[in-house]
Amino acid sequence: METIRFGVIGCGNISRTHANAIKGVDAAELVACCDVVEEKAASWAEEFGLGDSYHRDLDEMLARDDIQAVCVCTPSGLHSQHAIAAAQAGKHILCEKPLDVTLKKIDDMIAAADAYNVKMAGVFQRRTYDSTKRVREAVRTGKLGKLVIGDCYQKYFRSHEYYASGDWRATWDLDGGGALMNQGVHGIDLILHLMGPVKRVSAMARRLVRNIAVEDTAVAILEYENGALGVMEGTTSVTPGSGCEVAISGDNGTVGLSGDTITQWKFPGSEETQAEAEEQTAEAEGTASDPLALGATGHTEHIRDLCQAIIEDREPAIPGREARKAVELIKAIYKSSREGGTTVELPLSYVDDGPGID
Ligand SMILES: NC(=O)c1ccc[n+]([C@@H]2O[C@H](COP(=O)([O-])OP(=O)(O)OC[C@H]3O[C@@H](n4cnc5c(N)ncnc54)[C@H](O)[C@@H]3O)[C@@H](O)[C@H]2O)c1
Repeated sequence: METIRFGVIGCGNISRTHANAIKGVDAAELVACCDVVEEKAASWAEEFGLGDSYHRDLDEMLARDDIQAVCVCTPSGLHSQHAIAAAQAGKHILCEKPLDVTLKKIDDMIAAADAYNVKMAGVFQRRTYDSTKRVREAVRTGKLGKLVIGDCYQKYFRSHEYYASGDWRATWDLDGGGALMNQGVHGIDLILHLMGPVKRVSAMARRLVRNIAVEDTAVAILEYENGALGVMEGTTSVTPGSGCEVAISGDNGTVGLSGDTITQWKFPGSEETQAEAEEQTAEAEGTASDPLALGATGHTEHIRDLCQAIIEDREPAIPGREARKAVELIKAIYKSSREGGTTVELPLSYVDDGPGID
């Protein structure tokens, strides 16, 4: 069996999930890592059994012939720089969310992946959950009838210590925003994945609690291309946080997700029995009991998909252009907020990379 050998760029928090995911895929092998902080690279290499196969210099790692793919796990505003360098070296790419923090930089990395003929996939692990797949199937096959409302609520808690834990956090240049661009990008991708594209948006982003440069709270009114309406709320400043919730209603039924669990599966008047409805939620709850295992499971599916995409020479499940969409909607929300809540049409008619709040 063909094996795809991976190097990991950036040896911080999420890189460990990538390492475990690579180790969980037969077609993948972890062979190297790289971090500007040499001690971090060295201890990471030791932790994952790589011996002295670590690098401080990215170009040095990218020059290796025994690496076919990289995971980009650096601060968000460095993703395009690292992905473009990887593409130029002929390496395939799995890039953490968000792809980068400006549409210009994202377009540059997509163009580089195209020009150098490498696969580039984005990470949005919520798409891989069974519960998400079931809800998407219900929406896409018309089980809900005409879609009327698609809501997404992301109420998180992030402490002051969290924001102080890295110089790049909550900066416009490297984090690209706050409650939406870092944490909320997951739910925004999810609602787009389930409901389809947004046509116009009106929004407010504010800094309500934390002493940070970016927004800690935002709300938006959405109009989807399919005519449905919805609201999106995102914050990192509430106690206690309740995670990511999605609720979608049509004229025939309603479905709801909370994390990896289906919380609503309601089709009154349909032939579906109560027992079938309970089965939908009970099965999903089973996978909710071990959040750590779940965290690696999503990334494992991303690694497996990228390996297969390389081997079969096909697009990955979430190619760069698909991962770009969530950032574009966040940019539209920021633009609306900056302009006092005015309605902003999508797709953005020019690359608007402004911040959400001054
Ligand atoms: N999918 C998810 O659920 C998820 C969860 C957490 C983080 N993330 C994303 O992963 C990325 C990293 O987040 P994190 O929390 O792991 O950050 P982190 O600060 O813990 O790790 C980043 C690492 O990159 C290293 N680094 C910085 N500049 C570098 C360079 N030029 N070359 C090589 N290494 C460099 C840093 O030294 C650090 O070790 C962010 O884009 C974040 O949005 C995704």
